[in-house]
Amino acid sequence: MDEFTRKAGDLHAEAVPLQAIAERHGTPCYVYSRATLERHWRAFDAAFAERDHLICFAVKANSNLAVLNVLARMGSGFDIVSVGELERVLTAGGDPGRVVFSGVGKRVDEISRALEVGIHCFNVESPAELERIDAIARAQGLIAPVSLRVNPDVDAGTHPYIATGLAENKFGIAIGEAVAVYQLAARLPGVRVVGIDCHIGSQLTELAPFVAALERVLALADELERLGIGIAHLDLGGGLGVRYIDEQPPSPAAYVSALLERLGERPYRILLEPGRAIAANAGILLTRVEHLKHNGERHFAIVDAAMNDLIRPALYQAQQDIVQVCKRDGDSPGEVHSVDLVGPVCETGDFLGKARRLALAEGDLLAVRSSGAYGFVMSSNYNSRPRAPEVMVDGDQVHLIRERERIADLFAGESCLPPAPH
Ligand code: LLP
Repeated sequence: MDEFTRKAGDLHAEAVPLQAIAERHGTPCYVYSRATLERHWRAFDAAFAERDHLICFAVKANSNLAVLNVLARMGSGFDIVSVGELERVLTAGGDPGRVVFSGVGKRVDEISRALEVGIHCFNVESPAELERIDAIARAQGLIAPVSLRVNPDVDAGTHPYIATGLAENKFGIAIGEAVAVYQLAARLPGVRVVGIDCHIGSQLTELAPFVAALERVLALADELERLGIGIAHLDLGGGLGVRYIDEQPPSPAAYVSALLERLGERPYRILLEPGRAIAANAGILLTRVEHLKHNGERHFAIVDAAMNDLIRPALYQAQQDIVQVCKRDGDSPGEVHSVDLVGPVCETGDFLGKARRLALAEGDLLAVRSSGAYGFVMSSNYNSRPRAPEVMVDGDQVHLIRERERIADLFAGESCLPPAPH
């Protein structure tokens, strides 16, 4: 359920017509709905009712300061994977005590900064990282709270590029080796074991893999209790899928209730790291049709957004719904064709959607739906294209939350070689 709906035929973000945003801020342009972000975060939070928990939004999904700030105001935690994300959370008013730090390659400076600001937990992905954190914490006179990210070897049944919980993936510590690494952690003076962490993949549309992973995590927790290694929390990662076209993912409530049912009376605090399920359907990408073109039988609409703005279709063959923003005039609805929507970038893979049934004319304004997660954050300057602005709608208010990049921004940090000596 989101707040991008039609009123008198025209697509709105909350109370604001998207056409008005396109006129004011140009295209391409990302538009987010505050009410939708809040609704999605609350759906997770409320599902836990009285049970101790923390929803840590996966910052990688959408790291705009305004987005993080909206969530921080509701008391959200954050899952980060770099010191850049940590500084964004702090700048946006997030509580460092509600931050978990994931990722396989944490640098010394990143660990050090996270210790300095007092994050909630490091999700440790290897024995080498554990020893590094121990050494840095001791040098800073601190004790680092840690969980081990275990790899439960569960097939998430998702696209191979976004599956992370199989033995063949680079993520986590093989669950069979986890006890030995926990025993090492228990001996290190600079770390304190606080939890177990796992994340098996993204865009999951079934509950079974989540429950299978939880069962393996619980078996490990039992084993650790027997060894006298106490665990305070289980972090079950993110990964709940969303509806892009016709997927039928479980609701956050159904997902949380399946987890809680399996947990039973166990006392652990539960952490989740949802990204997509909170942000994806809280955003759209506005784009305008530049030209229509036919190559023989194929119909193309060349739009002003490209793979540099939204790379998911090119990278994962992801399908996102693409719709007309404005109602077409009743008399001239135009001819419906099967159209490939492509961008101006010089790559065959530069498309936003293929074989979409649309009646298009030059100048039409389109919305690529479900673009609030892994949209702007994955954008680049490829082909020297300035990145799009981001706008957040709050009721009838429109806030520009990131300016469109200017041409001069593209090469602001670059320099030419000094003149050749004569
Ligand atoms: N926690 C960890 C440790 C993760 O690696 C991820 C996502 C999440 C949480 C959040 O997962 P979510 O709830 O958003 O599924 N760029 C890809 C998705 C990559 C996801 C990477 N990890 C896409 O556009 O589909």
